[in-house]
Amino acid sequence: MGTRISGVGMYAPPRVMSNKDLEKLVETSDEWIRERTGIEERRVAKQGTPTSDLAAEAARCALEDAGIAPDAVDIIVVATFTPDMLFPSTACFVQSKIRAKNAFAFDISAACTGFVYALSIADALIRAGRGKTALVIGAEIVTSILDYTDRNTCILFGDGAGAVVLTECPEGEGLLSCHTYSDGDLWGYLHGPGGGTAAAGTPDGEEAPKRVITMSGNEVFKHAVTRMGEVSLEALAVNGFTKDDVDLFIPHQANLRIIKSVGKRIGIPDERVFINLAQYGNTSAASIPIALAEARAQGRCKKGDLVLMAAFGGGLTWGSALVRM
Ligand SMILES: CC(C)(COP(=O)(O)OP(=O)(O)OC[C@H]1O[C@@H](n2cnc3c(N)ncnc32)[C@H](O)[C@@H]1OP(=O)(O)O)[C@@H](O)C(=O)NCCC(=O)NCCS
Repeated sequence: MGTRISGVGMYAPPRVMSNKDLEKLVETSDEWIRERTGIEERRVAKQGTPTSDLAAEAARCALEDAGIAPDAVDIIVVATFTPDMLFPSTACFVQSKIRAKNAFAFDISAACTGFVYALSIADALIRAGRGKTALVIGAEIVTSILDYTDRNTCILFGDGAGAVVLTECPEGEGLLSCHTYSDGDLWGYLHGPGGGTAAAGTPDGEEAPKRVITMSGNEVFKHAVTRMGEVSLEALAVNGFTKDDVDLFIPHQANLRIIKSVGKRIGIPDERVFINLAQYGNTSAASIPIALAEARAQGRCKKGDLVLMAAFGGGLTWGSALVRM
């Protein structure tokens, strides 16, 4: 017994923030952002919007696509580093909002690799008999933790949510493998120090630092290219495929130059790489499921296609998933 993706869905808030809009906030230019990242615009949620609102919208779309009722969902996993609250989990809010009363729900934290981690966990739970149907969601309001005085980071990210419905299928079909890795020694390259116990306020009145993303862009760049390339090739080798068998490569959408370099390392030509980074920026855990939903809607990911997904992010974390759609 294995698992397959039976439905996909996405949601992005309607407000568009262009590179030109960012020019008014920090010392940057539309030209620099396009050339160095490939990003043209990103979506921004209204201030105060809970991440679960976006996640629930994406989940509803995925359930409708799968033709599955909310009360048939057994497991809800939300990957996010921008949860509604410290607790309860964002997944519990999603459960309530979509009326999935028979599910158990929890969040996982693996930054931009979160969706691949969540897929791997949901797959393992179904294989272990803990449920038959899972909602796997990547949802982020990254703009809520951006420092709009730091031009290295604030130009990169956007908000959104993507979801898939995972159901049982015969072994050897559907989700063929997940590979997930971490290197906690490298946490300092990409992190959000505020909001946790390591950077808390004190009883004497010392204020906690702000919750913002801090990043060493060049280090993250190098790591992303190497690790996404490695973990993608591993997925193909373990399953006995070559680069030529891949119908569509869906990489985490962080930087166009990273995506192109990884594509080159694996040997997959541009026309078989899905890129929607220009419109959304980096939506962290939401980027792969949003891309998957758009690829499906555009007819670029059909039933029977072999789809390779690869992600990397803070932790540092990285991973791949190989799926027969
Ligand atoms: C952040 C990133 C776009 C920077 O691009 P880069 O080509 O490496 O640029 P550098 O950091 O070498 O900076 C080059 C110059 O541009 C400047 N610069 C940085 N951000 C800028 C911006 N938004 N606008 C204009 N100039 C900028 C730098 O200050 C530097 O100026 P200097 O040479 O005078 O010091 C790139 O490193 C990157 O995308 N890294 C990966 C980040 C990522 O994906 N994070 C999420 C992981 S999930």
